[in-house]
Amino acid sequence: MPSLQGRVAVVTGGARGIGAATARRLAREGAAVALLDLDEEQAAATAAVLGGPSSIGLGCDVADPASVEAAVGQVLAELGRLDVLVNNAGITRDNLLFKMPVDDWDAVIDVHLRGAFLMTRAAQAPMVEQRYGRIISLSSVSALGNRGQANYSAAKMGLQGLTRTLAMELGPFGITANAVAPGFVVSEMTDATARRLGMSTAQLREQSAAVTPVRRVGHPDDIAHAICFLAGEEAGFVTGQTLYVDGGRRL
Ligand SMILES: NC(=O)c1ccc[n+]([C@@H]2O[C@H](COP(=O)([O-])OP(=O)(O)OC[C@H]3O[C@@H](n4cnc5c(N)ncnc54)[C@H](O)[C@@H]3O)[C@@H](O)[C@H]2O)c1
Repeated sequence: MPSLQGRVAVVTGGARGIGAATARRLAREGAAVALLDLDEEQAAATAAVLGGPSSIGLGCDVADPASVEAAVGQVLAELGRLDVLVNNAGITRDNLLFKMPVDDWDAVIDVHLRGAFLMTRAAQAPMVEQRYGRIISLSSVSALGNRGQANYSAAKMGLQGLTRTLAMELGPFGITANAVAPGFVVSEMTDATARRLGMSTAQLREQSAAVTPVRRVGHPDDIAHAICFLAGEEAGFVTGQTLYVDGGRRL
């Protein structure tokens, strides 16, 4: 029997990239999946081709408290419960510190950190009530520091601290909290990085693969696989951890 049969998962930023791959993987294991994304149309389109018992795509801005409360309420109303939360929505606004506008600092911190806080605060209520939950947040190797990403690095390391605290506070209620920290993964996000650096996407991928011990870049399914492990019932003794999924490469 698939390990997520009867479970309901929410994946933020699930319209494309790592979030969409994660949603597909969780659905394949039997979960009903709700994809929450700024891009409502794409979230619905991705949900429509997921398979699995039932999946929905909803418009949601994870940085906005009212939007989060409404979306989580709709998930509970339509899918009946909430077992797995994947805090995946993300943006980059890269710049060297001396050129970084305050708005770009705030935007990145808001989507990643405030977003994960708001989503987790909303999701923990049904999880605590049912004494079961799995929370997985997307950190990054950039948490360890990356030139041009002061905002993003701070947010991604912040998520690791949030994760350890969630593990302590929510563990007594049967809820685990873990982070997954990808290395370079092929997606719109890294394609945008190539454009910013004035490189083709192929050039940037080749360059990244060459300095990665496994000699390749990551793909969204590589990350989805790790998230799926942490989302399973069998991973109940794994909590407060950050799992680096980076082909062996630290920045
Ligand atoms: N691609 C990589 O190499 C890489 C590496 C490490 C970590 N990550 C992290 O993985 C996650 C997914 O990255 P990706 O590469 O798939 O990115 P992506 O840009 O392809 O997808 C991000 C998704 O998040 C959505 N989103 C953005 N802001 C939102 C908001 N306020 N509310 C709701 N949805 C919002 C976007 O619409 C998009 O669908 C991010 O948290 C990213 O920081 C990615």
